[in-house]
Amino acid sequence: MPRPYVLLSAAVSLDGYLDDTGPERLLLSSPADFDRVDEVRASVDGILVGAGTIRADNPRLLVNSPERRAARVAAGKPEYPLKVTVSGSGDLDPGAQFWHTGGEKVVYTTDKGAERLRRAGVAADVVSLGAALDWRPLLEHLHDVRGVRRLMVEGGGAVHTQLLQQELADELQLVLAPLFVGDPEAPRLFGAGAYQGGRLRLVETRAIGDVVFMRYEPTAPGTGSLASPADRHWLRLACELAAHCPPSRTAFSVGAVVVAADGTELARGYSREGGDPVVHAEEAALAKVDPADPRLAGATVYSSLEPCARRSSRPRPCARLILDAGVGRVVTAWQEPDTFVEGADGAGVLAAGGAEVVVLPEFEERAKEPNRHLLG
Ligand SMILES: NC(=O)c1ccc[n+]([C@@H]2O[C@H](COP(=O)([O-])OP(=O)(O)OC[C@H]3O[C@@H](n4cnc5c(N)ncnc54)[C@H](OP(=O)(O)O)[C@@H]3O)[C@@H](O)[C@H]2O)c1
Ligand SMILES: [Zn+2]
Repeated sequence: MPRPYVLLSAAVSLDGYLDDTGPERLLLSSPADFDRVDEVRASVDGILVGAGTIRADNPRLLVNSPERRAARVAAGKPEYPLKVTVSGSGDLDPGAQFWHTGGEKVVYTTDKGAERLRRAGVAADVVSLGAALDWRPLLEHLHDVRGVRRLMVEGGGAVHTQLLQQELADELQLVLAPLFVGDPEAPRLFGAGAYQGGRLRLVETRAIGDVVFMRYEPTAPGTGSLASPADRHWLRLACELAAHCPPSRTAFSVGAVVVAADGTELARGYSREGGDPVVHAEEAALAKVDPADPRLAGATVYSSLEPCARRSSRPRPCARLILDAGVGRVVTAWQEPDTFVEGADGAGVLAAGGAEVVVLPEFEERAKEPNRHLLG
């Protein structure tokens, strides 16, 4: 199900806290960084905070720059992004600034919370998600019903932690502030629990005044049929690798990457790599991994094209090579057309062998790009 691109944004002290325990909100960012945050806000369709942040900070969550607001309007967007909050209890002050500034607001809650919020008369669209609140349906509702394609999440810790642990965050924008809080009662940025995968990918760092801005992306493949944000990154890479293939009139150009469960790249390859005129991408990649590597069992193979089910140039097709390597999950962009092989069903061979096959059709055009000349 489609959901928005989710960008987590937070400022944190050197000792990992989001705030102190005083009544006033602790200012962690520099003035120049507040302007960067304003720019990010202006670029999104929705801004979400948890109910805890509304209760603690009473934020307005506006785009402050008139120029940025004017640019939004000129681009046909609402002047302000949709403001979104999440509360199981419905315990929110109807007088909070959140409801009375900016543009449209929506609060996601439970049946119980909805009753309470409606009774209190909050100035927002109140959406109940039933007895309990789940992030996937919430994000799908934001996407499908409210048209949110990019969502900025501005905390607090409870919300950030859940979105990361449930593999729903596409990006983390973090500002490290040069101060200490030193109070174990203060809220931490990330709580305890199971985080998927190993190290995140650092994609950008910048000094902004006296703070350091960092941008990270998760790296861990999804589990089973559930696609993770990192699945998109790795499949995009596979599509990019396909562009390296020596051109051919008789075979597809394909890229492939093998990634361990903790997000470590084990190998990559592409069709006709290294001057071998018949080698396939998945085959080229798998040949670079030691067959005894225990990480293969939990690995995912990303291939821009569905792995082949039959081929004349080698004894084993790629679907078989993947199963024989012990890999149980394949993510691909595009089903093999009948151009060279009638009714090839690599996905069927993989599924019959117990592997999970995930297709991300949003990458199909990208995967076809280096193969246009073969597709008529
Ligand atoms: N430094 C920064 O960048 C930054 C940014 C934002 C916030 N903060 C700080 O973070 C602190 C607040 O963080 P927090 O962790 O206490 O609160 P939070 O994450 O803002 O909100 C947590 C609340 O959201 C609701 N919620 C979250 N997930 C839910 C779920 N799955 N089901 C139902 N309800 C759910 C619950 O509301 P109910 O209790 O109403 O059910 C929960 O108590 C404040 O001190 C604030 O200053 C700092
Ligand atoms: Zn193949």
